[in-house]
Amino acid sequence: MTKVFALVPAKVTLFGEHAVVYGYPAIAASIPTYLRIEASFRGRGGSIARFEGVELRIPVKALGIGFDFAEIDKSYASRLAAYISKALELCSEVVGGLDSGLEISVESPLPPSIGLGTSAAVSAGVLACCAKLHGVDLGVEELASLAWRVEKEVQGAASPMDTATVCLGGIRLIEPSQRRYPLLRDSLEALVGYVPRVGTTASLVAMVKNLMGRAPSVFRAVMEGISEVVKASIEAIKQGNLELLGLLASVNHGLLRALGVVSEASDRVVHALREAGAYGAKMSGAGGGGAFIAFADPRKLEVLSEVVRALGAKVVSLKIGCPGISLGESP
Ligand code: MEV
Repeated sequence: MTKVFALVPAKVTLFGEHAVVYGYPAIAASIPTYLRIEASFRGRGGSIARFEGVELRIPVKALGIGFDFAEIDKSYASRLAAYISKALELCSEVVGGLDSGLEISVESPLPPSIGLGTSAAVSAGVLACCAKLHGVDLGVEELASLAWRVEKEVQGAASPMDTATVCLGGIRLIEPSQRRYPLLRDSLEALVGYVPRVGTTASLVAMVKNLMGRAPSVFRAVMEGISEVVKASIEAIKQGNLELLGLLASVNHGLLRALGVVSEASDRVVHALREAGAYGAKMSGAGGGGAFIAFADPRKLEVLSEVVRALGAKVVSLKIGCPGISLGESP
């Protein structure tokens, strides 16, 4: 086997971000926008990774730090390299030691750090490719759980939401305390896009944690509110009730505002979508800008796409839900 590859979908959170970090349920979906991770043996020495989507080159040692940042945005490169390095470390644990460096390339149609699960996709893709090169076929559940470990160890805190969703695919209820991720529906029509983002998932999760410490009963109530939105949306998803999902999205957006994670750009886009006739919309992911999702009459999605593009946002998908990670061999 000379080269293996993984196609990993991005993901969008429908409801429940942030609360999911505290053990409340959430709902997330894979989206048919794929990162392609390729890996091959490199012989002796460290591993090398390239993130081609944003034209950067990161030499990474298989076990440990040792980056060369030529012409790279350092903070971004070190974050991505940290996920790759940790994924290789866990792969080494699983396969009983890496005796060769790997050459890894990551192609992504999405920029990193916008709340669409690129770090989860990279973590899962690198783990799966590395294991496959060593003749180990990780089951999708085990892969999701190892990729979650990568996220937790790199970020300090992370829910299993992103890694479970990109590995398993579909629209899923995430029950972190039971480690259950049941499928609610294969797919649905919705608009997913993003605006520029400031801050990282780790810094936003830490900011919310600080709020929880300052006024625990108040912010606990906000989290409970978010979890009620999640519960109400389960049936709406199963029935494809886009109108109710829009209403619930707007409520969830308001609750995320209470947590202080909604940027002005996200607010502008969400308002514009509602004004233009969406049933409802919300920011998605950790916040500070980044991803958003809107529910609307499917016939309006093209027009709504034009509305958000006019505001400078990017449109990623008009569909949510697709199969999870897949692996293959390249000649
Ligand atoms: C992840 O996209 C969003 C957060 O809920 C963090 C997590 O679930 O790990 C803020």
